[in-house]
Amino acid sequence: MQTQRLRIAIQKKGRLSKECQDLFKRCGIKFNLMGERLVVHAENMPIDLLLVRDDDIPGLIMDGVVDLGVIGENELEEVGLERAALNEPCEYTKLRRLDFGDCRLSIAVDKDEQYNGPQDLHGKRIATTYPQLVKRYMDEQGVEFSPCMLNGSVEVAPRAGLADAICDLVSTGATLEANGLKEAEVILRSKAVLIQRTGEFGKDKQSLIERILTRMQGVIQAKE
Ligand code: PRP
Ligand code: ZN
Ligand code: MG
Repeated sequence: MQTQRLRIAIQKKGRLSKECQDLFKRCGIKFNLMGERLVVHAENMPIDLLLVRDDDIPGLIMDGVVDLGVIGENELEEVGLERAALNEPCEYTKLRRLDFGDCRLSIAVDKDEQYNGPQDLHGKRIATTYPQLVKRYMDEQGVEFSPCMLNGSVEVAPRAGLADAICDLVSTGATLEANGLKEAEVILRSKAVLIQRTGEFGKDKQSLIERILTRMQGVIQAKE
């Protein structure tokens, strides 16, 4: 179900959405986001923006349903590992790293707890939205643990008695602080990236992508 218009998936609401919209606007794409619309047609180019949940963006690209997407590397890696384990399509091309969406995926423990290294996590239950990335890290460290999958409110899990530690995104550290937790290990440093589906693009789409990339290069350089 390929259309002639270039489809770009971006986060509807959240940490990447504002900067993502600004970036495409600065690249000269004119669009008007209004109401609860999922698909927004650009006014001056054959481009459709799809406003979706960030969690869905890697899969949309890997299934070849959209052409381009902007996503945090944390989410991208997690979905890639999950799909690879399930033998589902997990290929994509990283076109470029962007200059926003900085965060780190970290393991955090009770701030009053002594922490000397990964071995202290042995046998602990770790609450997270990123079970694959946590497992990869813990396997690398050779430390056994039990996962506890939570899609939200991860930071309250220790206090609620659901887990001993958490692994979640940290940017300012305010959320950890507010919940009496301290950062123990950084397991991934992440930024927003522009990704592309694999496979053929028609000549027109290909040159449109190249035009966007050239403009993006200029926009990002101008900010530096
Ligand atoms: C992440 C994470 C923390 C918060 C950390 O949530 O889950 O809640 O950011 O940021 P801080 O260190 O600046 O306090 P996000 O904003 O991605 O929303 P979500 O949890 O609803 O996905
Ligand atoms: Zn999300
Ligand atoms: Mg959160």
